[in-house]
Amino acid sequence: MPQAKFCIGNQAAWSDPRFNDSSWQDLKTNTFWEKQGVDHNGYAWYRFHVRLPSSLKTRSALKDSLLLNLAYVDDCDEVYFNGKKIGQTGRFPEDKGGYSTAYANKRGYHLALKDLTINWDRENVIAVKVYDGNGDGGIGNGTPYVTILDYIDNMAINTNNSFTFAAANVRKELKVTNNNDTLVKGLFTVNAKDEQTGKNVYSKQYNISIAPKANATILIDIAGKPGTTLTYIFAEQKTGKSIMAIEQSPYILTPRPQETPRINGAQITGVRPNSPLIYKIAATGKKPLTYSATQLPDGLKLDSATGIITGSIAKAGDYPVNISVKNTLGTTSRTMTIKVGDMLALTPAMGWNSWNCWGTSVTAEKVKSSAQALIDKGLIDHGWTYINVDDAWEASARSADGTIVTNEKFPDMKALGDWLHSHGLKFGIYSSPGRLTCGGYLGSLGHELQDAETYNKWGVDYLKHDWCSYSEVAGSDTSLETFMKPYRVMQKALRAQPRDIYYSLCQYGMKDVWKWGPQVDANSWRTTGDITDTWESLHDIGFRQYKLSEYARPGRWNDPDMLIVGKVGWSGNLRNTRLTPDEQYTHISLWSLLASPLLIGCDISQIDDFTLNLLTNDEVIAVNQDTLGKQARRVLAKNEYEVYVKELADGSKAVGLFNLADKYRTISVKPSEISLSPSAQVRDIWRQKDLGKIAEGLTYKLPPHGVMLIKVKSN
Ligand code: GLA
Repeated sequence: MPQAKFCIGNQAAWSDPRFNDSSWQDLKTNTFWEKQGVDHNGYAWYRFHVRLPSSLKTRSALKDSLLLNLAYVDDCDEVYFNGKKIGQTGRFPEDKGGYSTAYANKRGYHLALKDLTINWDRENVIAVKVYDGNGDGGIGNGTPYVTILDYIDNMAINTNNSFTFAAANVRKELKVTNNNDTLVKGLFTVNAKDEQTGKNVYSKQYNISIAPKANATILIDIAGKPGTTLTYIFAEQKTGKSIMAIEQSPYILTPRPQETPRINGAQITGVRPNSPLIYKIAATGKKPLTYSATQLPDGLKLDSATGIITGSIAKAGDYPVNISVKNTLGTTSRTMTIKVGDMLALTPAMGWNSWNCWGTSVTAEKVKSSAQALIDKGLIDHGWTYINVDDAWEASARSADGTIVTNEKFPDMKALGDWLHSHGLKFGIYSSPGRLTCGGYLGSLGHELQDAETYNKWGVDYLKHDWCSYSEVAGSDTSLETFMKPYRVMQKALRAQPRDIYYSLCQYGMKDVWKWGPQVDANSWRTTGDITDTWESLHDIGFRQYKLSEYARPGRWNDPDMLIVGKVGWSGNLRNTRLTPDEQYTHISLWSLLASPLLIGCDISQIDDFTLNLLTNDEVIAVNQDTLGKQARRVLAKNEYEVYVKELADGSKAVGLFNLADKYRTISVKPSEISLSPSAQVRDIWRQKDLGKIAEGLTYKLPPHGVMLIKVKSN
């Protein structure tokens, strides 16, 4: 049902199948209304006129119920089948408890055949009332359909377990779930295809029978080669109907860190005079490590066991500190500059944010468990430090004096902040300049100073300030000043605090925010709408950032949104990212070249070997954290491939060659095409291997949506 009748507004009569909607407009239902030029927040209705062939019923063995799949709905909806209400997801503003978005939930309405009046072989009317709080609006991110359920529709292939790596093999357990009330038998097939040759390289079949409401487990254990597509098919015996799941086998590029000590992370940090500094020295090597520093300015102290520097410096200036890290295998040293002045975020922020995994189901426990995992799994040793709580920490009312209060999921924010700081981590929080946040929680409108004071008390180091319902205030006024004003108000409130609070603007790039972000003191600004874990989203957002290169500089970063690797889900239900391993290498390479903030979006406590390896390549991270603070320029855009070049502080260049095609292809670039010298030396920084001179050119065979990321140094 890729299209429906559509009308803005809300009338009870629109649920009635007899209502005449012929004057309504036709609207696509596979993409949100804002994406089709309907600029509207609030109510609207869709009406589908559907002929259900009776063959649907006769071909089903089960004949039990219908499934109405509405893909995703932004934000909440109520559904009528031939005038009968069959379900609701999310809450409308007039519902008890008030508006609550459910945009992250896929809509599958199951309807018992016995409860429905279905007009077989004739028209049925499905009417959908939608309320959009903000942003996209309506039905999208998939194509709605109706089907009659069969045994196979109550079965699922669950690929959510992570792969482990054992010698040259990748391994994981799959689950085939039977949600029927009867035993189901069938054939399970595993195929592996080599995408380079297009040939099937592996095939195995299993006859399985699964008890009612139970699982079967299949162990996958095959050679883990790049470019391998795994296809799993379960064919149900009675009907021959089948379900399928596809994924790519992961592969590891980053070599393990050496046992000898190595100092990682940014070589510069910015702090304001007298503001508290917390800086954790990022270092790898066999534990325990002992940290020391010479020329540490007055007012600072270093904990030699943890590598955490704390204190404050009164006088502005550049303070180069010589840091050493020692273990039983040796010692290493590096200079780190503490720049005491006005600017923060001299390199892009690196850390974690709760949104892409937990959405509004975030709790203090979940935040702590990702923070603990960031420490335990060693991400902190590569420079990952911010732990940012996104939306849904706020209570439904302020206290009597107007102070913002946390909800029951966050019993003690100050304790959370203290705990993070004691581990060398930084604490981020989220609000909106409007009355409500995008999730419908309380925003800061009219309470900006009070909120900034509260954040200061809690030890907050980072604020993401998200436009959302500020549209109510802005109304139809589209002047630049109206867009800047709310961010100025909060800027003043943050600046009045005795601690440094990184200021992250989130207003999706409206009014070319990159042009005026610095004027409201923003350390970064979102340049687009929300990212999701698909290649389309990654491509659409990531590969148009090149236009903004000139606006990025130390302390002022373009933010193309958070990382979509690992287990994400924007809700209590997490899944593996839908990006292939190659797309994930592209994602991290591109965000590094773009000098984007790097905020991990997955639950770190469930991070798998592949994702951990992806996020701990110090040479790749160094591209992102380079002190020159330049964003890569796109220097070549040809038929389905692009080349980006980022200038680095040591005079070398990071070069990313991206294959945007969905098949393997060989990319060849002459040094002159991208202003490089043939005698320059090339290093593959994912594999951390020197490749010799550029000579004739850069020629690489790249996987679909894959990347080659190199560092090029002229002699
Ligand atoms: C907006 C932002 C997201 C997230 C949610 C929270 O959609 O763009 O990053 O913060 O709000 O409600």
